[in-house]
Amino acid sequence: MKKIAVLVSGNGSNLQALIDANLSGQIVGVLSNKANAYALERAAQANIATHVIEHCNYSSREAFDDAMHTQLGNWNVDLVILAGFMRILSADFVEKWEGKMLNIHPSLLPAYKGMHTHERVLRTGDHLHGCTVHFVTSELDAGQAIAQGVTHVMHNDTADILANRVHKLEHMIYPIVTEWICTGKLVYKDPHHIELDAKKLTKPVQMCSI
Ligand code: GRF
Repeated sequence: MKKIAVLVSGNGSNLQALIDANLSGQIVGVLSNKANAYALERAAQANIATHVIEHCNYSSREAFDDAMHTQLGNWNVDLVILAGFMRILSADFVEKWEGKMLNIHPSLLPAYKGMHTHERVLRTGDHLHGCTVHFVTSELDAGQAIAQGVTHVMHNDTADILANRVHKLEHMIYPIVTEWICTGKLVYKDPHHIELDAKKLTKPVQMCSI
């Protein structure tokens, strides 16, 4: 059974979706860089171990990442899930977890890397928006995309309305992709080669549309 750690900084609705999914892997710990993250309460309610490592207590990004790496080792983690974790990770940390770390980003990557994706989609006037689950590489939001949830942008959408719909998609697709890894359906070979059902994935699977 794969041991999973979920890294959070805030609300943790994606963590909740992973908890509720009853994965065949086990969430062994939730690690937060913020002591007041509501995600920690969600973890405690589900009897999952929590640990807080506040970045302000570390002199450098590398020292902070080392502390996180040590904690993940203490939990004997196989898979790291970033779920609203608002820190940029050092190249060294990312390298240590290559092929074993996922992120979800609220856009149809490679479009709209970075912040404020909903506002930017509305400003551009795009018709489609959504979210992407991808492996993490040291370049921000640039690792190989695995799956996407897609939604149509309506003429009366605001950034908040759009964010809500994208969140719903996130809660659907993140547990599915995580389960694919837990069961061995999805296998990471190298940064440009991942296999789903033993076939090389050439573009992200578009799995939900609302
Ligand atoms: C989500 O929108 C996710 O795409 C982004 O951070 C947000 C986390 O939300 N990476 P939550 O804490 O899971 O509710």
